[in-house]
Amino acid sequence: MNFPESASLEVSRRVVIASGVAGMTTNLATAQNNTPPVSVPKTPPTGQDSPVDIPVRLDINGRSHALKLDPRTTLLDALREHVHLTGTKKGCDHGQCGACTVMVNDRRVNSCLTLAVMHEGDRITTIEGLGRPGQLHPMQAAFVKHDGFQCGYCTPGQVCSAVGVLNEIRAGVPSHVSVDLSSIQKATPDEIRERMSGNLCRCGAYSNILDAIQEVAGNQA
Ligand code: FES
Ligand code: FES
Repeated sequence: MNFPESASLEVSRRVVIASGVAGMTTNLATAQNNTPPVSVPKTPPTGQDSPVDIPVRLDINGRSHALKLDPRTTLLDALREHVHLTGTKKGCDHGQCGACTVMVNDRRVNSCLTLAVMHEGDRITTIEGLGRPGQLHPMQAAFVKHDGFQCGYCTPGQVCSAVGVLNEIRAGVPSHVSVDLSSIQKATPDEIRERMSGNLCRCGAYSNILDAIQEVAGNQA
């Protein structure tokens, strides 16, 4: 049977591709058969004991917690999965969104980027420890007053970060937009925007967040 030339070319191309894929598969299978299996260590699911669990004592919101943790557990996972303080949120788990911000010794920290075992002896404060209903921290109250949120997912991180920002400004820590490094820094809108730039808000509540922080900064001046 005679095929037109173009059809014959099409068939040959298919045959070549198919045999190439088959060859690759065979090579991979051969390689896999010859290679001893590699075990990739993973943090075990919550609730399961890991053979490498170690005792860790964490001071969180003024309470001491005796935990047994895999040393690879992040502070974020320790807070949420082991101490069940779920106010601290997991957004990206890669240090890019700020949703997991907590205070460690009064300084803001991305809790997804630090291991829990590194914080024995530190004073850890989460959003639950800043204030509570009826006794809100001034920053929490200002966020409520100025509608500094919509869905609220980023809000615990925003509030903790905002408290940290005002601590940094009070301590004279400069930022990238500070004009004069030798003078005491002021909580100008530019300073607040720059210092809060690591806290993303998908709802775009930025202008109201700025109003809230400025109000607290003014009240503290
Ligand atoms: Fe930590 Fe996004 S969850 S920075
Ligand atoms: Fe929704 Fe910020 S309030 S992400």
